[in-house]
Amino acid sequence: MGIWSKKSIAQLQGDEGAGQDLRRTLTGFQLALLGVGAIIGAGIFVVTGTAAAQHSGPAIILAFILAGVGCLFAGLCYAEFAAMIPVAGSAYTYGYATLGELVAWVIGWDLILEYLFASSTVAVGWSGYFTSFLRDYFHLDLPRELITAPFEVAAGSHVPHLTGAIVNLPAVLLVGLLTVLLCVGVHESARVNTIIVVVKVTVVLLVIVFGAFHVQPANWTPFIPENTGHFGHYGWSGILSGAGVIFFAFIGFDAVSTAAQETRNPQKDLPVGILGSLAICTLLYVSMAAVMTGLAHYSTLNVPEPVYVAISNAGTALNWLRPIVSVGAIAGLASVVLVMLMGQPRIFYAMSRDGLLPPFFSRVHPRFKTPYASTLLTGVVAMAVAGLFPIGLLGELVSIGTLFAFVVVCGGVLVLRYRSPELNRPFRTPFVPFVPVMGILICVSLMVGLGIETWVRLVVWLAIGLVIYFGYGRKHSRIGHGERAASASPHADLGGPL
Ligand code: ALA
Repeated sequence: MGIWSKKSIAQLQGDEGAGQDLRRTLTGFQLALLGVGAIIGAGIFVVTGTAAAQHSGPAIILAFILAGVGCLFAGLCYAEFAAMIPVAGSAYTYGYATLGELVAWVIGWDLILEYLFASSTVAVGWSGYFTSFLRDYFHLDLPRELITAPFEVAAGSHVPHLTGAIVNLPAVLLVGLLTVLLCVGVHESARVNTIIVVVKVTVVLLVIVFGAFHVQPANWTPFIPENTGHFGHYGWSGILSGAGVIFFAFIGFDAVSTAAQETRNPQKDLPVGILGSLAICTLLYVSMAAVMTGLAHYSTLNVPEPVYVAISNAGTALNWLRPIVSVGAIAGLASVVLVMLMGQPRIFYAMSRDGLLPPFFSRVHPRFKTPYASTLLTGVVAMAVAGLFPIGLLGELVSIGTLFAFVVVCGGVLVLRYRSPELNRPFRTPFVPFVPVMGILICVSLMVGLGIETWVRLVVWLAIGLVIYFGYGRKHSRIGHGERAASASPHADLGGPL
């Protein structure tokens, strides 16, 4: 018992069986839609430009392939766990099953970086597109003090300096609005997500197809610009750094696993949802990166709306696409914020039911059947972060946190294959140990590409988490004290599908 105690697979599968009052309505296709809803967002619409301009040049295409392959390996490992333990909690739950409570806590705490911070990051990206849209089409220029973060951290520094701005108000308002929506109705949110996914995939396809006709191949040479003498500034190390930065664009496929208990046939549908959404997005991203760097010279893309800049470079021919891109980005980024804000309270909820967080986090609204307390808390913190910090700083922290979770999930597959080879695995990660080992190696290299400052922030974050665990979670853990996990299902009281 104690910090190494594990939740047995049988116990977790029991959790699943008892979650009968949840409606199992989602199909593999719907899960893939949910995944695409969470994946396509600020990564492709905002971060690609910075990554191409500052790190990889046109070779950002290779960076996308590298990050995509890393995600594929991690995705295959997620699929094995998700099909074997189709209960909520995602990597937190898998960690509890394989590596024990302390590791589960660390992952649960780390996932805050992924879900909560990602929702803030994407809200900041959304604010960029939204304010440009108001300016360009409604001639409404919001004061800079109200659309910019008051803090900025210069590269190579840890100390924030003031920018003179007050708050990024549109980002705060978006998070606030979506938080209210999530408290009131999760079913409605799922429907909104499906519509938005159709809109944003259409917009991305339009850019790829029509943009392709205006590509200037000269923009692709040199394909891998010469390294400037600094690690990560072009050259091969630039591809690695670029991959670490745009890895952000792939985050979200793992969110599919948080819907495990609302899935009709989880053993089959979860792998389809996870791997399907990943495959669709990889294809779209690589094509989109090729078109963007072909339309405009990579050095011009270091702006908050690089897709917009790329198509503007085709002269007036693609003018008709500009408002469509804006609308697609505004709707698309909002759906990422929505899915991320939906995932976080569910992880808090699972941790609270296990006793690692106070009971407040698992309070369910009597009428709406949503985890309203943790949803509100998530929303308030995400609003503060979105309002105060710039996107670059947030994005890299989200990426490193997610990569860390992927490493643990890949490691978990390896550990469980050797420790419990007899378990029924409806989906088996192929080529074990090759796939999990490569997943770990690629994710760790991407983490290295993110640079020392981001590592320091990750370590500080995890250290804060450990203080909380030893101050609270260890004393209140139900499994750690030999009790069975709280009630049966971590989500037994929650309303229906995502
Ligand atoms: N993958 C998500 C995005 O790019 C987080 O916005």
